[in-house]
Amino acid sequence: MQDVFDKVAEVRKQIEEAAIGSSVELEAFRVRFLGSKNILKDLFSAIKEVPNERKKEFGQLINEVKSLAESVFQEKSVLFADTNKQSARQIDLSLPAVTRNQGAMHPITLVREEIVHILERIGYVVAEGPEIEDDWHNFTALAMPDNHPARDMQDTFYIQTNPDILLRTHTSNVQIRVMEKQEPPIRIIAPGRTYRNETISARAHCIFHQVELLYIDEHVSFADLKQTLLYLAQELFGSQTKIRLRPSYFPFTEPSAELDVSCFICNQQGCNICKHTGWVEIGGAGMVDPAVLEACSIDPDKYSGFAFGMGLERMAMLKWQINDIRLFSENDLRFLQQFEGR
Ligand code: PHE
Repeated sequence: MQDVFDKVAEVRKQIEEAAIGSSVELEAFRVRFLGSKNILKDLFSAIKEVPNERKKEFGQLINEVKSLAESVFQEKSVLFADTNKQSARQIDLSLPAVTRNQGAMHPITLVREEIVHILERIGYVVAEGPEIEDDWHNFTALAMPDNHPARDMQDTFYIQTNPDILLRTHTSNVQIRVMEKQEPPIRIIAPGRTYRNETISARAHCIFHQVELLYIDEHVSFADLKQTLLYLAQELFGSQTKIRLRPSYFPFTEPSAELDVSCFICNQQGCNICKHTGWVEIGGAGMVDPAVLEACSIDPDKYSGFAFGMGLERMAMLKWQINDIRLFSENDLRFLQQFEGR
């Protein structure tokens, strides 16, 4: 007889200690203690074994245990409210699906990758250099010593506590970094972020991106430069593209040139992009000045080479006819979503 009372106590203990951490465990609890074949029903039928004078006590005990099970179940239901059943009832298959934003490559990334792939096909390898640079690699080694007027061409952000440290104004610092470490032949492409202290407007930004080319070997000539730029222009804009090199000046190249490509928007018929000239400027180039080779301990009598630099924002603006450079850094989804799937 004591046995049945013990069983009830045992079941109460199980209820009190039941670990219910999920809707599945909650359901198992319900089946065991409250379901149609629950364990308490078995105990109820054991009332036969209880002597008459204790039947009332026994019945009350079981009812208590039953209400305990019910309240535990109620309490846990709030937490794991039989979610499956509930949501199953609420699913409306005719509702439009929730669209998930897949994300897109940034237009600057897209043009960078395109240019890198084009040049990798003719043996260029990607090189990188620091964005926080010292004066030597950004200016002095590139034949722009202190007080050289050409420094004014690039309004520079200096680190205030140390005038020797600055944010690189161009990716040409990578030319120096690579030539200091590596013997020719050198054939690198260096994409990266650059900084100039410019007032932000639709046409200019203080943070932008460039891609730099450098090729150093024996007997590299201006003809190699022209052919490489023609290849790049035709791969980028189509095989009909023509190039034009206009004499220019950079302290670290001699001779220097500005690269124009025939306008790929109007096919040289005249449009706003080329300002009715038929040509658009895409970068600067030239033969590496022997003084720069010397600064990197490369023998200018044995080696020669060329360098080329272009702005990626400008490239992307031409390619997709984007008229405001600020769009690239504003993270406006309406702008960025247009590049999905490209
Ligand atoms: N570094 C130059 C600039 O930012 C571009 C350039 C690179 C010119 C390589 C010549 C050769 O204006």
